[in-house]
Amino acid sequence: MGTRKLFIRTYGCQMNVYDSERMGSALAADGYEEVATPEEADLVILNTCHIREKAAEKVYSELGRLKPLKAAKPDLQIAVAGCVAQAEGEEITRRQPMVDLVVGPQAYHRLPAMAAKQRATGAAQLDTEFPEEDKFDHLPEKPKARRAPAAFLTVQEGCDKFCAFCVVPYTRGAEVSRPAARVLAEARDLVSRGVREVTLLGQNVNAYHGEGDSGTWSLARLVTELARIEGLERIRYTTSHPNDMTDDLIAAHAAEPKLMPYLHLPVQAGSDRVLKAMNRKHTAEEYIRLIEHIRVARPDIALSGDFITGFPGETEADFEETMALVREVRYASAFSFKYSPRPGTPAASSEQVPEEAKAERLARLQALLTEQQTAFQHSCIGRTLPVLVEKPGRNPGQMVGRSPYLQAVHFDCAADRVGEILPVEITASATNSLAGRAA
Ligand code: SAH
Ligand code: SF4
Ligand code: F3S
Repeated sequence: MGTRKLFIRTYGCQMNVYDSERMGSALAADGYEEVATPEEADLVILNTCHIREKAAEKVYSELGRLKPLKAAKPDLQIAVAGCVAQAEGEEITRRQPMVDLVVGPQAYHRLPAMAAKQRATGAAQLDTEFPEEDKFDHLPEKPKARRAPAAFLTVQEGCDKFCAFCVVPYTRGAEVSRPAARVLAEARDLVSRGVREVTLLGQNVNAYHGEGDSGTWSLARLVTELARIEGLERIRYTTSHPNDMTDDLIAAHAAEPKLMPYLHLPVQAGSDRVLKAMNRKHTAEEYIRLIEHIRVARPDIALSGDFITGFPGETEADFEETMALVREVRYASAFSFKYSPRPGTPAASSEQVPEEAKAERLARLQALLTEQQTAFQHSCIGRTLPVLVEKPGRNPGQMVGRSPYLQAVHFDCAADRVGEILPVEITASATNSLAGRAA
């Protein structure tokens, strides 16, 4: 048998992007080679997301699309990985018997063995265990391939917060932090392969409490040590919870120039009544005071957030408090969603806000957030920003990179400058990107 061909489709958050890369590496060590389309593949992995109903249903429509492929090529293996796999388990093979492998986010290191066993026996394989060991210890890296200049690095996984709307504590399990030495080693390896910027990932990344050389390290300590790695120029982290935004981490934003001035700090809602019902364990006022502290440490920080409209019990007056909070904070970017009841979460069984109200509030909120984002983008015109060159842009001769504030910046530049940080004078802005010229 020649090399087996692998195709991975990734849905959901950045952690799934990271996990897909690691699954690719684990399977490469087992003789698999990644291909660009499912048609060429012997194994198709759908790395899924369960966060909202729409996200979770995507996997079933994708499986529907794969059906003719499977019919034409019966030994094609189809795997469902990620948070739908964890949440639905055997339900997936009941609904779609063409699925051969169901593998939860903590069991990826067992994927090569599962695939081999399925081939040998023909029986569907399922693994949604939460093993105690660090799955990353068992995921070998590919031979030292060069990497794009910006990479993700998971430092923490899982969540103990149990917000009343959220599936993550169930799909990703309890909070676990990777030991600091492992994170540092992975970062050094990434840098040796051309990476200049790392984004530290965790469902609750600022709750990081990894084993260090002298006791437990906080995220601030980890960032400080990472910043000492020569060649690593930029550090980011996501996603944070307001209650874990500690003073040492805020201080790091003032003290550590490699820590980028961008912070994704979801608040979800602006009404204390709703925040309490969501089990967020902070008030709107506490969030606003926290933002003030952060802005004292790093006045130019670009703030981002997540919002939910139409959480059970949210009234028009509650929603107006969300709008007031947004006006006060002034976000540089944000994500907002209609509340989606998720099976097994506490809020799913409460009386629901009518769909029209959820949608109408979302439209109003998004209009305000877009206005703020546009204003922030516009405020960058005329400034010269350091841009990490990442890849070719749409037009010939053009490259695209990222500003410190995570904005995409298009500008004319030679292709051999990927990985360099160049000063770019910003000349124009759109909602989702900037244009400039090399200064
Ligand atoms: N760990 C991160 C992200 C969780 S998921 C955090 O704590 O912020 C990303 C976002 O999806 C959440 O911040 C929330 O705004 C949204 N979300 C989660 N569950 C949802 C649901 N049931 N309905 C609508 N939006 C939801
Ligand atoms: Fe979900 Fe984030 Fe709340 Fe955890 S803190 S339950 S991941 S929204
Ligand atoms: Fe989705 Fe799981 Fe990430 S539910 S948002 S893929 S943690």
